[in-house]
Amino acid sequence: MIRLLKLKVVLLAIISAVCIGIVRASKFEGIPDEALPTSSGYLTIDEAKGTKMFYVYYEALSPPGKLSETPIVLWLQGGPGCSGLLGNFFELGPWVIGADQQFHPNPGSWNRIFGLLFLDNPVGTGFSIAPTEQDVPLNIEDVGEDLYTALTAFYTENPSFQTRTLYATGESYAGKYVPALGYYYLQQQEKETPVFQLGGLAIGNGLTHPVAQIPAYAPAAYYMGLIDDRQRSKDEELAKLVVKHIENGRFDLAHDARSVLMRALYEQTGFATLLDIRRELDYYTYANGSSWLSPVVNRESIKKALGAEESITWEDCTDYVDSSFRNQTMQSTKFMVEYALTKLPVLLYQGQFDLQDGVASNEQWMKDIKWTGISEFWNTERIVWQLEGVLAGHVRTYANLSHVVIVGAGHLVPADQGLRSQKMVEAWIGGSLASSPSLSASATPVKKSKTSCSVVDSFSIQSGKNLDMRVLEETPTSI
Ligand SMILES: *[C@@H]1O[C@H](CO)[C@@H](O)[C@H](O)[C@H]1NC(C)=O
Ligand SMILES: *[C@@H]1O[C@H](CO)[C@@H](O)[C@H](O)[C@H]1NC(C)=O
Ligand SMILES: *[C@@H]1O[C@H](CO)[C@@H](O)[C@H](O)[C@H]1NC(C)=O
Repeated sequence: MIRLLKLKVVLLAIISAVCIGIVRASKFEGIPDEALPTSSGYLTIDEAKGTKMFYVYYEALSPPGKLSETPIVLWLQGGPGCSGLLGNFFELGPWVIGADQQFHPNPGSWNRIFGLLFLDNPVGTGFSIAPTEQDVPLNIEDVGEDLYTALTAFYTENPSFQTRTLYATGESYAGKYVPALGYYYLQQQEKETPVFQLGGLAIGNGLTHPVAQIPAYAPAAYYMGLIDDRQRSKDEELAKLVVKHIENGRFDLAHDARSVLMRALYEQTGFATLLDIRRELDYYTYANGSSWLSPVVNRESIKKALGAEESITWEDCTDYVDSSFRNQTMQSTKFMVEYALTKLPVLLYQGQFDLQDGVASNEQWMKDIKWTGISEFWNTERIVWQLEGVLAGHVRTYANLSHVVIVGAGHLVPADQGLRSQKMVEAWIGGSLASSPSLSASATPVKKSKTSCSVVDSFSIQSGKNLDMRVLEETPTSI
């Protein structure tokens, strides 16, 4: 009897050891081999200046067709100055880092049927290299050019990828980067044959046309019941000041005025973050205000595993990149989206609990889009979108323009609603967004990992008191 019990204990120990992954040795400490990228490293932007963009690439897990025809999805983070590794290790990569500082397989990853590429953009961000602060691009056209240069280098180094269409996606301030890349690409296409084919642009909770978006903050907060009428009036005055500075071409002053508005909203609501009004703590943040990603990404073994420059201290968002964008943040890239719409599919999607770059703020600028299909777009019925019988969102799509609202998500949609975001991007690239109001989520699930027996739900809303007051002192960023 005792023997049997002993055997049971031993067996249990072995099983749990396998479950938490300590039996299998991995090549790099702290990261399971299965979580290692297919390739990663640096793409040269400007040889003379020494600027380089850091990238991480994951091959598709279960491509339904030939690899040579499998699309590649590019993901860009916002900020400005936030690292693509946020998307990789917290939102849509195949493995994400939980509050336990361990890697967990992500069932909502965007590389289920597509290749997935992350860039630390612009140079100076994350592990990317900008030898001096002056090397950070000063206007959005230069950001577009740098992205094109990086992608040209990536596709040149991997000639077998050149038949695989690229879809440029991103979040928040990437609402500028994604159009800038598209615009630069389409201009170049008139002059040369690019080494890669661009298939479409997608923006999640984007900041694209601030002059229309900023005035939506206060009404959205008021009608959600988050501020009172007097506060709304005050905030609307602050927003008018942002608009006035934009109209006068004083984008530096507009940037600062917008920070005043954001600070007012933080003070009035007491929220930990405007990016998701449900959260008592900011994304990937402990109750003491520190990030759970930085300690992991900065481990020597992780930098080695990623092929990142080891002397760089990784930050989720790099402040000097943000401040060097002071004259840019309040400028518009709407004209770039309008141009892209005449040539490419464009998807705009938002999580509905984002008070900053959410649904109302985006519909405000979408109403301003100049494009031949725009009235048909608005006349097209908005459909209720379900996944396996459960409400997942709302979809409106006409010709090259699609709009999706994701139910149950804040600003970082793939972190909040991984599967919904995955099915959305798969349907959009597959061209079935318009025709499938009830998309089926029954497609092949992501391969189960051998080293982890259960997926820890690190995405559930954290509870606890937010002690992080940094937000009131610093300029709020968009991620
Ligand atoms: C914050 O809390 C986390 C989790 O408890 C801990 O690992 C970390 O060391 C703490 N950081 C600081 C600066 O106290
Ligand atoms: C930002 O804009 C201000 C006012 O237009 C100008 O004086 C300043 O030189 C600009 N800064 C940069 C870095 O372009
Ligand atoms: C949509 O893009 C295609 C190219 O993919 C283009 O031929 C078409 O004219 C665009 N549609 C509209 C309404 O602009």
